[in-house]
Amino acid sequence: MAAAARRQIGVVGWRCAVCAAAVDISTPLVFRCPNATADDPYHALRIVQHDEPVAVVVDDPNPFIAYRPHFAWDSFAAANGLDDSAREALVRSLDADIAAVAGTGFFVTPFARADALSTALGFTADGGIWIKDETHQVAGSHKTRHLFSALLALLVTEQIGAASWRVTDRPRLAIASCGNAALAASTLAAAAHWPIEVFVPPSASPAVLARLGELGAVITTCPRLPLDPPGDPCVLGYRKAVIAGAIPFSVQGPENAWCLDGGRTIGWEMGGADRPDHLFVQIGGGALARCAVGALAQTGPLPKLHAVQTEACAPLARAWKRASRGEGGVAAAAHHWREYMTPWVDVGSSAADGILDDETYDWLGVVGGIHASHGAPVIAKETEILLANELAREHTDIDASHTGTAGLAGLLAIRDVISNHERVGLIFSGIRR
Ligand SMILES: Cc1ncc(COP(=O)(O)O)c(C=O)c1O
Ligand SMILES: [Zn+2]
Repeated sequence: MAAAARRQIGVVGWRCAVCAAAVDISTPLVFRCPNATADDPYHALRIVQHDEPVAVVVDDPNPFIAYRPHFAWDSFAAANGLDDSAREALVRSLDADIAAVAGTGFFVTPFARADALSTALGFTADGGIWIKDETHQVAGSHKTRHLFSALLALLVTEQIGAASWRVTDRPRLAIASCGNAALAASTLAAAAHWPIEVFVPPSASPAVLARLGELGAVITTCPRLPLDPPGDPCVLGYRKAVIAGAIPFSVQGPENAWCLDGGRTIGWEMGGADRPDHLFVQIGGGALARCAVGALAQTGPLPKLHAVQTEACAPLARAWKRASRGEGGVAAAAHHWREYMTPWVDVGSSAADGILDDETYDWLGVVGGIHASHGAPVIAKETEILLANELAREHTDIDASHTGTAGLAGLLAIRDVISNHERVGLIFSGIRR
């Protein structure tokens, strides 16, 4: 590609954090590292940004329009000949279709100081708690931000004639999730008229299942079977579907790297004048924290990342401990994936049931973010998970689930080491259903 054309592009490609394989951004159908196999899935593509530091200008209410030059999907489309107006038109028309299904299109969500909560937790006027309220985002959580970029990349692939399927005979999208991600994926799939299969646990809530049905998703329930290998049975079901030809429509970076692209919008939106000193993020598969901290690093100084899990399931905290004590320390974690990030056996129960992922799939990005920011993992007690949600309900008007307020539980767990003058960022996501 000509150097002049290349300079227009925000993202130049992908690089694997494990094996350093590089893939040019113009390459279609890149979901995983080219060296990942069924026996060696331990690879993780990262976005190689060209226009760093990213200068975030919010000149449109839709983040996918406002930040368009910085996205991997946009660079992929540009590198394959889609002009600027065609790329913008794609976002606008898909967003309108999403609004027709979900009642709202994408928007830059508020990131505001929660005054009453800050006072209740003893912060002074110069410090306090800032909350990113994602409960009114498309499908009620931030998960759609991840999946919108994945969907845009698929639609671009079709437009440039690089799809390995016929548009009239699209393979199913597949995703494993117990709640918000399945709703997000099914909402976007409905808007794009794309068939989707969701792999859910038997514990999935009737309200979620009913909505998935309304959206036209094929629902496959995946109980834990005695002879299954360790790990989440929903992920096992999803992987089998992908091997059989389904498209990985996952919010796990190692499964579909495109989800990391749109996921960064949440971090770009927290990097303005209210940039926090500390960021507490609830960790399930880890994509949210990884994207938030990665995006904040692209725009300025990093807040300390506190990666919050529950006592019921804390594979990230365990991996961090293993890496800290291991050969080469945390910086060498990528070379020890199999030893450090192992599935949690006997996952317990928690009111924050959306973050009980057996494995933190995007652990490398989270561990890297903790390391770079001098943060730490936090394990919240169940009493703190419950109290956090009560405090959120009492002192804010955001109606988030226990999963969505679990970051606050992490703050409660280590409140004594955070100064009253510091600024703490939280992400309340996942509207209560
Ligand atoms: C509301 C909410 N917050 C946070 C998370 C954690 O995101 P991730 O799985 O990317 O770590 C989830 C995941 O399901 C969620 O539903
Ligand atoms: Zn690799």
